Amino acid sequence: MSYKVDLSQLDRESGSLTQELVRRFAEAIDDGRLAPGERLPPTRELARLADVNPLTAARVYKRLRELGYLSATVGRGTFVRSLPPFASDELDDDWQAVALPSGKPSVRERVIQEAMRGVARPDMVSLGVGLPALESLPVAELAAAAAATFAELGAGALAYTDVEGAPELRDRLGQIGQQQGYAADGEEIVVTTGARQAIDLVARAVVRPDDVVCIESPTYVGILSSFEATGARVIGIPSDADGFDLDALERVLARYPVKLVALQPACHNPTGRHLSVERRERLLALARERSFFVLEDGVYARLTFDGDPPAPLRGRAPGHVIYVDSLSKTVGGGLRIGWAAARGPVFNRLVALKLATDLNTSPLDQRIAARYLSTHGHERLLADARVRYRVRAAALRAALERHLAGEYEASEPLGGNNLWLTLKRRVDERALYAEALRQGVSFTPGHSVLAEESQRASMRLTFSLADEEELDEGIRRLAVAFRAVLRADRFAATAPVS
Ligand SMILES: Cc1ncc(COP(=O)(O)O)c(C=O)c1O
Repeated sequence: MSYKVDLSQLDRESGSLTQELVRRFAEAIDDGRLAPGERLPPTRELARLADVNPLTAARVYKRLRELGYLSATVGRGTFVRSLPPFASDELDDDWQAVALPSGKPSVRERVIQEAMRGVARPDMVSLGVGLPALESLPVAELAAAAAATFAELGAGALAYTDVEGAPELRDRLGQIGQQQGYAADGEEIVVTTGARQAIDLVARAVVRPDDVVCIESPTYVGILSSFEATGARVIGIPSDADGFDLDALERVLARYPVKLVALQPACHNPTGRHLSVERRERLLALARERSFFVLEDGVYARLTFDGDPPAPLRGRAPGHVIYVDSLSKTVGGGLRIGWAAARGPVFNRLVALKLATDLNTSPLDQRIAARYLSTHGHERLLADARVRYRVRAAALRAALERHLAGEYEASEPLGGNNLWLTLKRRVDERALYAEALRQGVSFTPGHSVLAEESQRASMRLTFSLADEEELDEGIRRLAVAFRAVLRADRFAATAPVS
């Protein structure tokens, strides 16, 4: 026959015509009779050449595609698969652009990367990264806890541990959770690599593409990134002085079946506000009525400036609320110890995802953290931090009045590390951000932490890392940048935003 693959004398008795044809094509491709990129006859033509049913011909190509021998493009035909050419130069990485799936870091991710780099620059006043005051970090206590861990456990300090977390840390977090009201015991705790991972595991465990998720906006950038990555529809819910806007949530609930609501009910990042008692009750009643999960992020919740922190939501509805927290805002983000508290099937999903992702959060760090948390050091640290951050928040507000009076609206934080500021005049937020970095001050641009586009320039200012003097200098530089951008844009200088 004329075709390159011998299609004659097929075994028509045994009933495996498809297999027989697949074998003959595969052999022809393997030995080079059919070359990469070569076009194969359409299925009807193959059916005619091999004298088989067109359905059999289609099955042959389908199987060859599954085996990786062929590729097909609708409307163009079926081809022998060609592999990308090898890079000609060892140092040339351009081939990766072809080999990798499409995707580049989002604006949100780029802002985080820049902010992390900015902290290391000595000439920069960093108002953009939620790091605790460096002088408050319990360096000596953690060093002692590390030494004691090695002295007691020897090589055992370096062993793997349970996927859910080291038993001693889960127990301790369970006790703390019981006192604070976010967990019944250690059995409800999954230890994670920072609260960031806890949030990501929750997003992946609960949400599927096309689900609807409501997220307090503005919020922590990682919450937006994780839920956007699921392919779910993310709807931003605004907040006011009483926190998360329940009326706005109810309007969404009237239109969509909502899968999850994510918020920070105490010392919210970035406004520093709490959710009011009345709204807490209403939110939990809605969660029960409409069967949605609540993701409660409590990483800043203990850092109230005055009085006790509001009780965690999870204590009131433990089956609906998944609580996430970490040591990052008190002991430091470098330890990467976080956790989630949950129960029921969602708990098992979180553990399964943790196993599939990284098996364990550093067991050594978990053992050190458990030891540290068994002392009163953390409570003392928290008490100091509350005073320190109350003073810094006041210093930041005073600096804003000194350098930018009349130009902004700002939240009045009740706790946490951050303040949310919106500029009254129309100014290009991205230009302001670039100019501020040039002037030597960083902040978190509003667009990176808002779920939806906003007409007004806004920003998160973090007051935990810089001392009072640095805060004043940072805001002075910000004001210089603001005026430079206004001058560059004549329209902005004359057009107030209502
Ligand atoms: C509100 C909020 N949740 C979670 C996180 C993540 O914390 P961690 O450093 O423990 O991953 C942050 C970090 O900035 C945060 O601000």
